[in-house]
Amino acid sequence: MTTGQFAYFQKRIVPIEEARVSVMTNAFNYGTAVFGGMRAYWNETDEQLFVVRPREHFQRLIQSAGLLHADLGHSPDSLTEILLELLRRENYRTNVYIRPLIYAASERIGVHFQDLEFDLAIFTLPSGQYIENDEGSHVCFSSWSRIQDNTIPARGKIAGAYVNSALIRTDALNAGYDDALVLNTDGHIAEGSVANFMMVRDGVVITPPVSANILEGITRRTLIELLRNDLGVTVTEREIDRTEIYIADEAFLCGTGLQIAAITRVEHRPIGRGTMGPITQQLRQLYFDVVHGRSAAYRHWLAPVYSHTIATESEAGSIKERAADGASESVADAIPTIQS
Ligand SMILES: Cc1ncc(COP(=O)(O)O)c(C=O)c1O
Repeated sequence: MTTGQFAYFQKRIVPIEEARVSVMTNAFNYGTAVFGGMRAYWNETDEQLFVVRPREHFQRLIQSAGLLHADLGHSPDSLTEILLELLRRENYRTNVYIRPLIYAASERIGVHFQDLEFDLAIFTLPSGQYIENDEGSHVCFSSWSRIQDNTIPARGKIAGAYVNSALIRTDALNAGYDDALVLNTDGHIAEGSVANFMMVRDGVVITPPVSANILEGITRRTLIELLRNDLGVTVTEREIDRTEIYIADEAFLCGTGLQIAAITRVEHRPIGRGTMGPITQQLRQLYFDVVHGRSAAYRHWLAPVYSHTIATESEAGSIKERAADGASESVADAIPTIQS
């Protein structure tokens, strides 16, 4: 896997090879960690790398950690500063996927949170696409149910809970689908394995509410704002029956890693005309403009990594060759897919 050269680990930036934990680490044994999945997009014209909504992502990370009784005393701003420093060290000139973790670092066996020490780690990697087929994905309904709020809260990005996502996604891929939709235990659509769900009926975008056992996605929140404010589309948050998708005009999955993936078939039934619909198309265009920093109105959502024009590749010397937007197939092949 192509990773960055550095990680933030045990309160400092270290070479990635030095960021290692013991087999006795509590998080390794019990999944007692929370994580984030963030992206930064490279803007070639501005020679700038933009991190998308870092404060919102770190706010959710802090809240997720709170669910595990963990408080490192960081604010979204202090975490953003650490991340920007790490990205500057990498000197990336390509899109980047970012993985922050707050994990139970104590080397201790025992399933309780009392006196457990947590620590922060962040690593980054040049980013790839999540779903190969993001302009026309074919999904199924998973036979697994989404975890419930009173088992492991889905609103927190809790490492151990991602076994649920892995089961959902593995079975979908084994059955030849691009991904799966998962129902909550009430039988309503919750989300995809690692992304939120939206569909269009009669020009209205409908998405499950935050109380439907979903992760409270930052992309979901972003798209709701873009749909309402820029595209003039009504967005309704309500429970969605399974069969509503069969009669929907459009449907898509959204998340940081996956971005916006049009769903064009569900278990061999076409959605709408069986191709990406107009609202999905417009929204994708707008979203990519916003996250690449091409929309002045939404620059405040982005944190620029470089204060001025960054070093050229020759000046940077040791920078590994990175794949950029529109990279050739052979380079793109070397880029790992994003796991959640
Ligand atoms: C289960 C799940 N739902 C939704 C999302 C989308 O969240 P976000 O838009 O914050 O990336 C993710 C992203 O990782 C996820 O894992």
